Amino acid sequence: MTHVSVLLPQALEYLAIRPDGIYVDATFGAGGHARAILERLSTGRLIALDADPEAVDRAKAIAHPALTFVHANFRALGDVLDAQGVPLVDGVLFDLGVSSMQFDDVQRGFSFRHAAALDMRMNPYAGKSAYDVLNTASERELADIFYQYGEERASRRIAHAIVERRRAGSLPKTTVEFANFVAGVTHRGSHARIHPATRVFQALRIAVNDELGALRDGLGAAIGRLRGAGRIVVISFHSLEDRIVKNTFREDERLNVLTKKPIVPGSTETAANPRARSAKMRAAERKAS
Ligand SMILES: C[S@@+](CC[C@H](N)C(=O)[O-])C[C@H]1O[C@@H](n2cnc3c(N)ncnc32)[C@H](O)[C@@H]1O
Repeated sequence: MTHVSVLLPQALEYLAIRPDGIYVDATFGAGGHARAILERLSTGRLIALDADPEAVDRAKAIAHPALTFVHANFRALGDVLDAQGVPLVDGVLFDLGVSSMQFDDVQRGFSFRHAAALDMRMNPYAGKSAYDVLNTASERELADIFYQYGEERASRRIAHAIVERRRAGSLPKTTVEFANFVAGVTHRGSHARIHPATRVFQALRIAVNDELGALRDGLGAAIGRLRGAGRIVVISFHSLEDRIVKNTFREDERLNVLTKKPIVPGSTETAANPRARSAKMRAAERKAS
């Protein structure tokens, strides 16, 4: 499935693009938001990042003179801008989480609909895979991951069962095996509203990619690089992410919050794009000094 950009007109409205401005798309993905930003630039520039090396070719295909793509984690945004010789920018967009391409690519291990190695890394060349995390984290760490990132009530039981399987040398290696294993441990049947392993998969993905740590670092770097009345716009898909965005915006004295309540997609958008259902967008503006 191709990736449909979420809250596109709203994100553009809040970025308030100046044709001669310098913008950052911290999460290029399929380039949907990036293309729309580029259309609004004249002499301006867009620097786009993505941790996923597969985004490189998609950025090349756009072949727009105002676009510079850098394969990098947005937690290194400051270094990326330094390397580009760009001290300050007029706006930064974050559209968090995984893209439809990543989710649908069986080999990436994000989904348990088809059997694949338990990977889940946005950048498959860096860090530990989901299997490595399951194989090396302590029972306590695993329980915390499932509870904190997935609000999984059976977190301790699942963590304990994983450590037992590890000792027996029979830890599930594939997405489907692991999903069935979680369903077995929790005794939740297929009558459940969501698959019994959904929360555990989401929690593992957040841990594997240190998504919350990256968000904190990325927001900090972005806010520190805004100039004038520069804007920061964040679309999140998880309540923990939204809380970090909300609190960071509220507590940073350099910012005026533009969205008292998060902007959410309308019913037409959620009907056409189920991925949009959990989306929340917040925006802030640098206080002019
Ligand atoms: C929801 S998609 C973005 C879609 C994009 N806005 C579009 O319209 O096509 C999220 C993208 O962010 C990337 N990503 C997630 N966390 C990242 C991070 N910490 N640093 C850089 N890229 C990240 C993922 O690899 C994925 O491609």
